[in-house]
Amino acid sequence: MFHAPIVPRVRKRSRPAEADVPRREEVKFEDVRLYLVERKMGRSRRSFLTQLARSKGFIVEDVLSDEVTHVVSEDSHASSLWKWLKECAPKNLKTVNVLDISWFTDSMREGRPVAVETRHLIQDNFPTLPEGSTSTPVTTVSQYACQRRTTTENHNKIFTEVLQCGRSFEVEKLLSDERYQTLKLFTSVFGVGPKTAEKWYRRGLRSFTDILADRSVHLNRMQQNGFLHYGDITRAVSKAEARSLRTIIDEAVRAITPAAILALTGGFRRGKEFGHDVDFIVTTPELGKEKSLLPNIINGLKKQGILLFCDYQASTFDMAKLPSYRFEAMDHFAKCFLILRLEASQVEGGLHSADGDSRGWRAVRVDLVSPPVDRYAFALLGWTGSRQFERDLRRFARVKQQMILDNHCLYDKTKKEFLAATTEKDIFAHLGLEYIEPWQRNA
Ligand code: UTP
Ligand code: MN
Repeated sequence: MFHAPIVPRVRKRSRPAEADVPRREEVKFEDVRLYLVERKMGRSRRSFLTQLARSKGFIVEDVLSDEVTHVVSEDSHASSLWKWLKECAPKNLKTVNVLDISWFTDSMREGRPVAVETRHLIQDNFPTLPEGSTSTPVTTVSQYACQRRTTTENHNKIFTEVLQCGRSFEVEKLLSDERYQTLKLFTSVFGVGPKTAEKWYRRGLRSFTDILADRSVHLNRMQQNGFLHYGDITRAVSKAEARSLRTIIDEAVRAITPAAILALTGGFRRGKEFGHDVDFIVTTPELGKEKSLLPNIINGLKKQGILLFCDYQASTFDMAKLPSYRFEAMDHFAKCFLILRLEASQVEGGLHSADGDSRGWRAVRVDLVSPPVDRYAFALLGWTGSRQFERDLRRFARVKQQMILDNHCLYDKTKKEFLAATTEKDIFAHLGLEYIEPWQRNA
């Protein structure tokens, strides 16, 4: 059953009140102007819902002016809501849709203002009495507790609570979906982890424009570069691009130490066609000589003019602290997280670029890890992945062999000794496993 929406036509004219408020989102529905009643909803929830609606192209007014076409409330007490509305009455209150939050959640879900149905309406049960009249309807439930008899077995109250929970749940779903989508968007930026994303979300920021326009937000260098090269580094890296980068890194390494060991690792070593970055392990055959390797490679790349960003983390590796009994997300080897400039001319078949991109180059994420040579096999095994494969390998070592495996070492708890390995095959053999080729580790 439909109730004809009472939507006054809005004259197209410039609104000075709006002009000084930067409108960040595109307005899709010119004829609908929402007003969210803060009573019962609360300020922060109102602000979340306002931003959500604006992000979907709705106009949400901050004040209840007579331009408002749809008033949305979470107040389940129609009488007190209408009383309040009449007190701050704009002239055209009679032509406004006074709606339950369900109209709002339906509209957000549909991404457009849905037709107003009777179930959405908060009816004014007690129309304004003619002037001069002093009588008050006797059946109203007073909004003042001192005028109510509220017992613990108030079935009516229980019923109201169920209704309110039902409504809240819909809004909660909407918000959590919004939250999830926003956190996903924010953490897609290089250098933005879940903590930062959550902090920004709690400040009410919902888009990249919000973040970049907010003066109180401080972006570190990694995040600045994450935004600067966002399009490029969120685009997959192709196998041909990875191959070209291997040549570039190899040349930079050979220029420093001709005898250096360089291995492509990560997803590309497992034979993947595309990856989110390109991972390399680099070391020197002579133990200890690897210490100056990464800083020198970084310098070389800088001199070539292809180093767009570099976060170098010196080694914190200490054999005396092994084996480690706790799980660590990162290993202790020296490493650097880079963004390199890759020229189209250096990639066989060209770049994996966006349509119409004619720059002739793209930014690519590259990770270099530099373990001491006696740790090389463990680092290579660990960085080849996949993550699931690594997890299972470690669990197998622990549960089946009473051994501890990580990116640094393999330790036999029964014999109380470290097991040496110069190749991945050695590690599989220690574990009593048949060797598994890198391309077979895509678990
Ligand atoms: P990636 O995140 O690069 O994954 O880590 P990937 O498999 O190459 O896939 P893409 O890049 O998304 O295509 C590569 C491997 O390095 C390990 C991870 O566990 C993963 O198996 N790794 C990563 C570490 O061992 N330590 C780290 O600090 C980071
Ligand atoms: Mn990778």
